[in-house]
This record gives sequence, C-alpha cells and structure tokens, in this order.
Amino acid sequence: MPNRAVIGTQWGDEGKGKVVDILSESSDIVARCQGGANAGHTVVCDGNKFILHLIPSGILHPDCICLLGNGVVIDLDQLFREMEHLNSQGIETRGRMFVSGFAHLVLPYHKWTEEVNERRLGDHKIGTTLRGIGPAYTDKYARAGIRVYDLFQPDSLREKLEANFASRSDVISEFKNEYAADIPWLHAKLCEYGRRLEGMAVDGPRFLSDARAAGKTMLFEGAQGTHLDIDFGTFPFVTSSNTTIGGAMTGLGIPPFFVDEIFGVVKAYSTRVGSGPFPTELTDSLGETIRGRGQEFGATTGRPRRCGWLDLELVKRSVMINGIGYLALTKLDVLDGLSEIRVCVGYNFREQGQKQIDSPFFDLRAVEPAYRIFPGWSDSTTGARNLSDLPAKAREYVDFIQEYTGSRIALISTGPSREDTILIPPLASHTVRVSAR
Ligand code: IMP
Repeated sequence: MPNRAVIGTQWGDEGKGKVVDILSESSDIVARCQGGANAGHTVVCDGNKFILHLIPSGILHPDCICLLGNGVVIDLDQLFREMEHLNSQGIETRGRMFVSGFAHLVLPYHKWTEEVNERRLGDHKIGTTLRGIGPAYTDKYARAGIRVYDLFQPDSLREKLEANFASRSDVISEFKNEYAADIPWLHAKLCEYGRRLEGMAVDGPRFLSDARAAGKTMLFEGAQGTHLDIDFGTFPFVTSSNTTIGGAMTGLGIPPFFVDEIFGVVKAYSTRVGSGPFPTELTDSLGETIRGRGQEFGATTGRPRRCGWLDLELVKRSVMINGIGYLALTKLDVLDGLSEIRVCVGYNFREQGQKQIDSPFFDLRAVEPAYRIFPGWSDSTTGARNLSDLPAKAREYVDFIQEYTGSRIALISTGPSREDTILIPPLASHTVRVSAR
C-alpha cells in the first residue's frame, strides 16, 4: 500500500477530514504535520458526527494509530478534551494516540497575545481563529517555545515559563485575573499534563522510521490549505505554518521518499474564513445559498465562511507547488440545481496601465477572475457512489477540473457520510466501511 500525503489545495475547509477518514481505512498510522487546534474536521461516521480539531480523523478506525508531529503546535487542554470525548463515545484512544516530544505547546498566554494583536490591528486584522497558533509559532522561531519534552523537566520548565511571562508582561497584566496568569498554577498543571503524556510522547522521526521499516502504511495529514501557507499563501492573511508538502517533511521529520502519493483535496467551489483576498467571492444571495447548502460555518469558530466559485488557477498552482498526483473532489452535491456554474481560469488586472507584476499571486487583490461558464445540472448527485450515477453535465465539470489542473480525480465526495463517495482508480478497489466500530 502506498504512503500518502493529503494536502488542502484552497484556503482550508476542503473536506480533508472525510478524505483522511476514508484513506485511513488502509493506513496503520495517520500522522499530522502542522497547524494546531485552528483546524476543524467534521466527520460523519455511523450516523454520529465527530468534530476534531487536533486529533486526526484516522482515530475513528480502531486499528489506526495517530501521531501529532513536531510541526503541530499542541494545545494540551484541547487534546485531552478530544481524547475524553472520543473515549466517552466508545472510541478508545489509549495506546493509539502519540505526540512528538519535539512539538511545541500552545499555552494560554499565546491566546491572550493573539487577542491583543488582533485587537490592535483593528480593520486590518487577520481574522485568525484566536487559538494562539501564530504566537506559539512565533515563540518557536524565537527559540522561546515550550515543547512536550520540557514537561518532563520541571525545573527548567519553570525557568522557561518565568522568562516567557517576563517578555510579555503587558499582555499578562491584562489577563492577570485568569488562573493561568499565575506561574505556579500553570507550572503545576503542565507537570500534571506531563505525567499524562508519559508513554504518549515519542521521538517522532524514529517512530515513523521504525514504522516504515516494519512495513506499516502511513498517511501524512496536512491541515489548512495551500493558500494559507506562510510562504506561498495570500500573505499576510495566512496561517503561521507551511501547509504545503514541505511542511510534511519538516513537521514530521521524514525524508521525501517516504511519500509515495500526494493527494490534493479540492472543494467543488471555494470558501475562506477570516480576512484576505478572494477573487471569486460571491457576496450576493448565491453566495448565501452555497453557504447554507454546504453548511459553510467554521468547525472551529462557527464563523460563516465566505463562499465563491471554484478558482482553478489557485488549485493548479497548488498542484504545482505540492506535486499533487491525485485530487479528491468534495461537496459536488452542493452545486446540484444551479442554473450555471462558473470556474475561474485566469485573471485580468483590474486597473489597466498599472505596473505589470510577474504573477497575480503576488497580490490577488488587484485582479478580477476570468470565468469559464458551465451549464448546471438539474439531477441530484447527492449520495452518488459511481461515476456513472453522475449527470452528464456534472461529469463535464469533473472532467474539466482534471484537464485544467493536469491532475487525476481519484475520489469524489457527494455527501457528508463515508458511503456518499465515488472511488476511482487507483482508489477504486478501496473499501469504504460504513461503520468504523
Ligand atoms: P490562524 O491559523 O488561527 O492564525 O488564522 C490565520 C488564518 O487562517 C485566518 O484567516 C483563519 O481563518 C485561517 N485558518 C486557520 N485554520 C483554518 C482552517 O482549518 N480552515 C480554514 N481557515 C483556517
């Protein structure tokens, strides 16, 4: 079985959770490489809805082991909450959930710092998820971050906390009434978490290398999407990690040859949450219709997602950056019944005569999309399980996505449940189990 990586090709929320859930059926290990509790996966399994922020959806498969890699910033309150929730639903996490000892932690003061930063930016705010992600990565690169392994060394942990409190005394003083603004309280809590992490904290690169040597199949799970990447996204309206394929290498400590196949997940239309350019955004009632049908509300923050047409230029760029071999197309059913469907296949600069810039990706605010218009389909695609179940016009849409991006579609999702999925070679022989338990 190939080891696969799953990467978002848009601005996140492409439906990676369901794709990872399906592909992890044939994986022994699912390893997440970056991001933190800013992600939100909704997976419907066995009629139950699971919303996971940190834990990979592979946990829903009883034989699958999950790892949070060193590139993930871990909010331990959230991790233990998710584990307890899964356990209460009969999904055992003990012995199946591991974290890299090299992973940095998201601590309460990161969330407070972010709240203050966003407030200061006013109208120019990034619109982050307020999960402390940016400040946690900032501490990592400032070499001030606290890692999982630090929890096993109480004395140096206390010194690090003291230094971090001192360097952000302005923020701490604003939140001085919170429990976690008290160093002894936070230190004791982190030491307690350290005890709970015994047996769960591993040397991530060694863990994955040994797994490969033992012939285990691995799935490498990216979070967010290519256009939220800190380097290649719509900067500064991006997240603080590499959401692209390089993030899988550095975020797990694996060499490139560990990845046999790269899957890009693309939603049949576009969404984004937070601020930032979005050339194909629909701010009219059609945008609202798509939001309602696609239930486009953030799994993490509940915020309504901005909706618009599929931007194939963005997706094509994602295919290039990540070396995507196969696409998983999600939420095709949301487009059922629309009279026409537009797809962005290029851009025009809004202001004629402005200085030519090499690439519109330098500043997507300066462009208007050039659309290719497709007739809509009136028949339903909801729940379709075979390509032959799709109306001819939906097939035309699907074929065009493949042709334009130069990447083959191997999976089409036609509804929230596992079973509402069309599998195409090389996945055609893959089994989709209705119940994981
Ligand atoms: P942060 O990752 O919380 O710092 O947020 C930075 C930007 O990335 C904001 O626009 C967020 O809305 C967006 N973002 C972060 N995580 C996700 C995600 O999982 N899906 C979609 N957007 C996200």
